[in-house]
Amino acid sequence: MDVKGSETAGTFDFVVSGYADPQRYFSGAADDIRARLLSEGAVVIRAADQCRDPGVFETAIGALGFETRDYVGGSSPRSTIQGKVMEATRTPADWSVILHQEMAYVKSPPEIIAFVCVEPAGKGGESVIGDMRKLERLIDPKTLQQLTDRGLKLRRTLPDQARVNLKPGVKKSWQETFSTASVAEAEVLCRARGWDFEWSGDDLILWQDCISPLRQHPLKAASIWCNQAHFWGAAAMIEWARIDGREQDASELINAHRRSPQLLEAMCFGDGEPLAQDLTLELFHTVRGLERDVDLAQGDILLLDNVQYAHGRRAFSGNRKLNVIIADWAAGQSHAVQG
Ligand SMILES: [Fe+2]
Repeated sequence: MDVKGSETAGTFDFVVSGYADPQRYFSGAADDIRARLLSEGAVVIRAADQCRDPGVFETAIGALGFETRDYVGGSSPRSTIQGKVMEATRTPADWSVILHQEMAYVKSPPEIIAFVCVEPAGKGGESVIGDMRKLERLIDPKTLQQLTDRGLKLRRTLPDQARVNLKPGVKKSWQETFSTASVAEAEVLCRARGWDFEWSGDDLILWQDCISPLRQHPLKAASIWCNQAHFWGAAAMIEWARIDGREQDASELINAHRRSPQLLEAMCFGDGEPLAQDLTLELFHTVRGLERDVDLAQGDILLLDNVQYAHGRRAFSGNRKLNVIIADWAAGQSHAVQG
């Protein structure tokens, strides 16, 4: 087996080349890769060209011992390609994607997220990662205490598919969020997860789980900042649009925030009171300070521990195609809690 490890900008790169059987290769390298992922939080597997095929990618992630998951209730506009393999996001090319841990607004977000670069962007489009272990000491202790005492709960407005483009900011319908066109099925999925909801005309107002700002790592004796309080608030959405140069989006968001704030998502305390805009903005810039680019060439896999590392991307032009799988560590390997 040809596994070469090297440290590059804090992530651990595995270079794979010349393998004939992906299942055998990834099974053989699984212990090494899992151990590195657990200790470093981020691993890049270079030149796994066969994984550009969705079926091979899913086989490879399974061979690493991870248990793949579905994306029901997630916020990113994306669709399934095959099996558990999804497109990374359909967020337009001229939008960056702000650092975030996948589905960090629910009680049990995926523990692992894996991206494979099918086609790199013509210009821009670099993947961005951020070490969230650093965040706890960057946040004002009083803020952390307040968020811990009161909890965090995301309020989302999910328009009907027919109106989704009228909504400022992140555009995702309830039909896409729950992969169904049935009101009854969407309600069953909400109830099954314990999420409160109400209908506002044809739009769904959804209250997701009340969470603590810090999350216990599933395999390590560590609590790590894992939420999206820096992201879901008008002030952050407006700042994000300005950074991207999306002036029209910025002015639509400003207007919506003034005239009909219920149209916009809001990160709230556990009792439903939205976070103050200056706090959202402070968190937004603190998280942005952790951004680090990772260049992915065709066939490269970026494997992230979704608690230890956040991910995002730069805006781009031309085509860019990344596929993604979300997963858990799964029983059997590396399950002893580490310090
Ligand atoms: Fe994501």
